[in-house]
Amino acid sequence: MSNGGGIGEAADEGRQFGPLGQALVIIPTYNEAENIQAIVGRVRTAVPEAHVLVADDNSPDGTGKIADELAGEDDHVHVLHRKGKEGLGAAYLAGFSWGLEHGYGVLVEMDADGSHQPEELPRLLTALKGADLVLGSRWVPGGRVVNWPKSREFLSRGGSTYSRLLLDVPIRDVTGGYRAFRSETLAGLGLGDVASQGYCFQVDLARRAVKAGYHVVEVPITFVEREHGDSKMSRDIVAEALWRVTAWGVGERVGKALGRKPSDPRS
Ligand code: GDD
Ligand code: MN
Repeated sequence: MSNGGGIGEAADEGRQFGPLGQALVIIPTYNEAENIQAIVGRVRTAVPEAHVLVADDNSPDGTGKIADELAGEDDHVHVLHRKGKEGLGAAYLAGFSWGLEHGYGVLVEMDADGSHQPEELPRLLTALKGADLVLGSRWVPGGRVVNWPKSREFLSRGGSTYSRLLLDVPIRDVTGGYRAFRSETLAGLGLGDVASQGYCFQVDLARRAVKAGYHVVEVPITFVEREHGDSKMSRDIVAEALWRVTAWGVGERVGKALGRKPSDPRS
């Protein structure tokens, strides 16, 4: 799927999408002291009307304090302080709840380290005018990665392919973390029972959106590897993704054999 192409297009023909509301860019952070100021500044410049929410897990390096200072100077910047490191998934769920409670119409996921370029956000938001969910994609034509080690690219491509085939979701970059959701889409994903903690959270939400029949569009992005700080990717995060994706895939196949509809939450 390339720019403008969408999953479930035929079924959506002629569908009207409502206007986009106010956007909230959620940036989860754990030890991003070297990156937070630059990324917030870039978002504010690239999309001045958008608000930013930093969801910090009490980073030992003081990221949360820097974020507070940024929020003190700019009424478009907000901070959600969480008690400790609970994973990317939990931080996003808390950020989504905050955003939905505050009435934002668009919720954006973005990494703090510069890998997701704020300058590309206007393209994602334009695509969202005709979609329920837009995924920034490294693995569609026009998408690419810069400065990623081959080993990491292999893992990411492999993870996406495994998930796509096992879960039967026609998405090229199913683990990516640069996304724009309409608030109505998030509200329809049944987030109350999401248990994914690490990066498989991204697979979980993409899969829920496809199963729920939402119009999902992949837009090519250039993912730039971080220059400062460290990735939080770990063996545990890969292991969680592998067992959960496998369990979802097997569950779906068993569900189908038992005659359940794909939208059944048990499948
Ligand atoms: N609050 C919080 N809590 N934030 C976290 C946590 C956590 O436990 N773990 C990671 N983050 C934040 C990081 O601080 C960063 O802003 C963002 O989540 C992404 O983390 P990275 O550690 O930089 O991820 P990556 O570069 O290895 O992985 C990228 O690729 C993955 C696989 O495609 C990201 O784009 C992921 O979103 C993506 O799933
Ligand atoms: Mn990163």
